[in-house]
Amino acid sequence: MCGIFGYIGKKTNATEIVFGGLKTLEYRGYDSWGIAIKDQRSKIKDQRLIVEKETGKLPNALPKSSILNLQSSLAIGHTRWATHGGVTVANAHPHLDCFKQIAVVHNGIIENFQELKKKLAKQGHIFHSQTDTEIVPHLIEEIMNPSSLSERSESKGENQTSLRQAQAKKEFTTAVREAFNQLQGMNAIVAAYAPSNEIIAAKNGSPLAVGIGKDELFIASDASGISEYTKDVIFLADHQMIILGEKLKLLKLPNGKAIKPEITKLTWHFENTEKGNYPHFILKEIHEQPNVIKHIALAYSDEAKKLAKLIKKAFGTFMLGCGTASYAGLAGTYLFSSIARKHINFTIGSEFKYLEDYVQKGTLVIPISQSGETIDVVEPVEKARKKGATIAALVNVPGSTLYRQADHKFLLGAGQEKAVVATKSFMSMFSILFLTAYTIIDKPQDAKKQLLIAAENINMILKDKNKAKIKKLAEEIKKSEHIYLLGRGLAYATALEAALKIKETSYVHAEGFAGGELKHGVIALIEKATPCIIFAPDDDTYEEIISNAQEVKARGGFIIGIGPKNNEVFDRFIQTASCREATLLGQIAVAQLLAYYLALARGIKDPDKPRNLAKSVTVK
Ligand code: F6R
Repeated sequence: MCGIFGYIGKKTNATEIVFGGLKTLEYRGYDSWGIAIKDQRSKIKDQRLIVEKETGKLPNALPKSSILNLQSSLAIGHTRWATHGGVTVANAHPHLDCFKQIAVVHNGIIENFQELKKKLAKQGHIFHSQTDTEIVPHLIEEIMNPSSLSERSESKGENQTSLRQAQAKKEFTTAVREAFNQLQGMNAIVAAYAPSNEIIAAKNGSPLAVGIGKDELFIASDASGISEYTKDVIFLADHQMIILGEKLKLLKLPNGKAIKPEITKLTWHFENTEKGNYPHFILKEIHEQPNVIKHIALAYSDEAKKLAKLIKKAFGTFMLGCGTASYAGLAGTYLFSSIARKHINFTIGSEFKYLEDYVQKGTLVIPISQSGETIDVVEPVEKARKKGATIAALVNVPGSTLYRQADHKFLLGAGQEKAVVATKSFMSMFSILFLTAYTIIDKPQDAKKQLLIAAENINMILKDKNKAKIKKLAEEIKKSEHIYLLGRGLAYATALEAALKIKETSYVHAEGFAGGELKHGVIALIEKATPCIIFAPDDDTYEEIISNAQEVKARGGFIIGIGPKNNEVFDRFIQTASCREATLLGQIAVAQLLAYYLALARGIKDPDKPRNLAKSVTVK
């Protein structure tokens, strides 16, 4: 969460470069943004940084009126996902020290910020935000130049800054290192200091990549925005600090010992897809799903064989993921059990650390993640790796942290997913697990056939006539306060994923339940006309889930059936194809469209960027 981009070099359009870089990182947060630049024209040694910050998403281009429209060869920027402090201009990054010479952008959470802030306030530092980040420039300032309260409370004129400059007790580099060493939690910071021609970054958690161009250096939260300038990249490891200046220096933390950087040649391609004729990315990505599924059916045999072999060989297998990826993982447990007769453990990423005690050499850990950056997956996977587990990662973003952590990398091949709400990446995750389960029992052809039926079925669902039917249903239920979704077996995972889609896209409260749980409490929630979506595949769950639907209907519920077979209990019915376990794919496509049309019906302007969310969740 939060995107960082910085530039230092010979070019004089640093603002434009950083602005463009931030646009590629908006998926990491879009509450507010800001850029700090060093004004190229000023020759004075004690110059201040020029900063502009705004709330909301980045505009398409930097306004002509922006104070940042100056020649500059050094800039750092940030696009924020709020953790500490609301969405205000004051809380947007970069944050500055008292003398506006040190700017810091940050990704992570500084767990001991309150304690540090109190101390700094006593020393006379003045804070303007509620963020944890703001303590960092002040801490660097304090280390460089401890000063008295009275000095700080006076006006901060040019003379005074030059005086302070002359009196600096410690160099900027040392001060950044010492300040970073005092921060607790998982953090990445990037700092610039006006009088020096350097950008310094340090990390212990969130990702940072450094691009090495000709006479120019870049730093960013991921390599995608860097790749148009250079293919030579250093991925910063935890407990490292890097100085981007005349020369590039990599240091170990906490001691500052120099280490040799390892340069990776970017070989993967970063897409930057456009919406084309679609009003929103989410709709475009839903439309791409049949091809994603076909790709897995037709071109994934070798990968499925490799994954099947790893599972067969493993002494216990653990899948983990968060949100949508977690529901793909949960579906996977049903697939491996019913198809391959294999018990494969699954847990959501954030819980894995409480269950991983018996992970050992020989254990196979399968993290599932679109972004490959989710901290709740990255962190436990690193722990499992240290314990000797083999890591086979299913990720969509090549070069991401999980991709680099893994011993075996399985790319989802879903193409860039720009909408924050995950759609086609789920289709790919499920299809891979489905094909792998059938590959374990040497029947990959069965899986391929079913996947092709599912892909064709989604093509049908996406026909205008069928979309209009789903849209009409969305209009009918748009005023509902709650929507409940029921399924059994694999369809329980369907219900959970469908509920998440509705919640995050339309902001309607939706809950997925296992049909069997209904009478254990959930049924108390049903009132007259409460929409209840029943996922009814034509498998051995059909009769029982229909009985559950009857029970809800008897209490006034409005029953929406999704599946291959209609039933008189359904008040509304959307048909999907029957293709064994892959029936889930068509049902999910219907749920995605329902969520999308519900969002539009409820007046949500940008369903690609739901409130409070970010595409990449890099804080715990
Ligand atoms: C839901 C959604 C999130 C993600 C979750 C994991 O539509 O997008 O629930 O699925 O944050 O993200 P990745 O797959 O990137 O690890």
